[in-house]
Amino acid sequence: MAVIFKVRGTRDLLPPETDLWNRVEQTSRSVFARYGFGEIRTPIFEDTQLFARGVGEDTDIVSKEMYTWEDRARAESERAQSLTLRPENTAGVVRAFIEHKLNETGMLQKLFYIGPQFRRERPQRGRYRQFWQIGAEVLGPTWSGAESPLRDAELLEMLASLLNELGVRGWRLELNSIGSATDRPRYLIALREALQPIKGRLCEDNRRRADTNPLRVLDSKAPEDQELINTLPKIADFLDEESTDHFKQVLAALDACVVPYHLNSRLVRGLDYYTRTTFEFTVPDGSGLGTQNALLGGGRYDGLSEILGGPKAPGIGFAIGEDRLILTLQAQAEHDNADAERKLDAFIAPMGIAQNAKALSLAQELRAQGLAIELGDGMFRLRKSFETADRLAYRMVIVGEDEVRSDIYTVKHFAAGEQSKVPRSELAAALQAQVSSSSPSGR
Ligand code: HAM
Repeated sequence: MAVIFKVRGTRDLLPPETDLWNRVEQTSRSVFARYGFGEIRTPIFEDTQLFARGVGEDTDIVSKEMYTWEDRARAESERAQSLTLRPENTAGVVRAFIEHKLNETGMLQKLFYIGPQFRRERPQRGRYRQFWQIGAEVLGPTWSGAESPLRDAELLEMLASLLNELGVRGWRLELNSIGSATDRPRYLIALREALQPIKGRLCEDNRRRADTNPLRVLDSKAPEDQELINTLPKIADFLDEESTDHFKQVLAALDACVVPYHLNSRLVRGLDYYTRTTFEFTVPDGSGLGTQNALLGGGRYDGLSEILGGPKAPGIGFAIGEDRLILTLQAQAEHDNADAERKLDAFIAPMGIAQNAKALSLAQELRAQGLAIELGDGMFRLRKSFETADRLAYRMVIVGEDEVRSDIYTVKHFAAGEQSKVPRSELAAALQAQVSSSSPSGR
């Protein structure tokens, strides 16, 4: 019989990996409890209209990534209905908030969730068709303080604490304000106008976005378009006084609790409900996520409740990609283990057999000066030299034709991710110098 395999873009999580998932979820739950959040569990499928209206018809999510089906009526009393597996959970939480009249409690609602979401995206490392989110939403009537900049700062400070407690290193908070529902249309007009004359010089994808969804041009990563995109108008110049002031207060509160952030005027996010503060936490390249470096994203959605037919109930929230969080923690642990196993000061890599003898004499010279050295072989491919060196030594010294001719050597420091050129006379000292505090021996 033919074997049946899991569906593309889905994953099986097996022990012992599931232990790490549980640890992450337990830590998140305990941090959420410290900040006064309670758990909400909403259905995994909802009325398609919820996402069409809430997330926005023109977004990538709604226009091409949703798992939607026509649910047949089973009895005359039922009607056929278009249903969708939830691609995200903010719309569902706000729907439940409206349906259960939580606004009438007059209290700020602080709700968290942990669960699977579904998007028909092109699967790759860190991007799946069923993925998990750990998210939270803070919303309520205006008089509950839901609109206050303090809520934004508190949420961001909680995220910084959570990531630190989980042991995520090197995270970076990217922050922007995309203004109110009235600022955005004014900005869109200016953006469309600025895009018209340069559209022809952009890549095909961005040319299409310039017409269909110009905001998406801003978060394009196409390298050839970056220079032109940087010349486009900035949303910050279109914010009204209230939005500007709101954002200033968010930043001041973050400064007060020393949460580092980077302003990124191009951070617009891919869902239509956002207003004012938007943010993402990213991790550096090499953190196990490939090109998907956004660990989490979120922002304010002051008009979403009304868009869904509810009362005025401003709010802000975030969702962490749990799969990405786990991949990051695994990559960090692997890196730490690799560092713990390193014993040698340097690995000398001759580039081609012709450099073997030169490399041997360099190794002899450095060993004589007390350094622990391993010597590769000119017949190794560069990739093999890199991998072996990264496992055994703190640094790799490349001995190529140019290096031998100039007597200046390329030195790669693995933990620091740095590469430098060092003259032979300074090589022994450079191979002992401390660069990184991340290696356990402090080298
Ligand atoms: P989002 O940016 O679409 O926002 O998703 C949040 C996070 O979920 C992303 O930063 C990423 O880590 C993860 N994620 C998204 N798509 C995938 C995928 N295909 N595979 C793996 N991970 C993925 C939202 O979903 C909003 N609801 C967040 C929010 C809450 N805004 C306000 N409140």
